[in-house]
Amino acid sequence: MNEADWQRLERAARAAAANAHCPYSRFAVGAAVLTADGAIAAGCNVENASFGLTICAERNAVYRAVADGARAIVAVAIYTPTATPATPCGACRQVIAEFGGDAVVRSVCDGSAHAQHTLAELLPAAFTLR
Ligand code: THU
Repeated sequence: MNEADWQRLERAARAAAANAHCPYSRFAVGAAVLTADGAIAAGCNVENASFGLTICAERNAVYRAVADGARAIVAVAIYTPTATPATPCGACRQVIAEFGGDAVVRSVCDGSAHAQHTLAELLPAAFTLR
């Protein structure tokens, strides 16, 4: 992952956040994943009046990549309209692990700071059947 790749991925995550359906939390999230074959898939959070049915941006991005045929994810960018970067929730970490055990995850926000971790740092000792 060079910086140009990250910029492309971050742009996709920021653009996806604009499509977030978040009338309940008013917290828009955008995510974009880079697959091993160089494709980018983006997603936003989609909330539901039955709150528990809400799905996070990261999971939507991963599932979109998989639906497009990808099986390996090398990087994930997450954008939140916050002053400091937000890392993915536990459920999303487990979903990223399914396809991107070696993925690098970068979180960007409206502030200048970003956070960057490997998936293994975010989810040590992940559950796996393999
Ligand atoms: N959300 C995400 O999209 N990703 C996360 O990693 C954590 C939370 C969404 C879910 C909900 O729509 C809103 O942010 C507030 O929790």
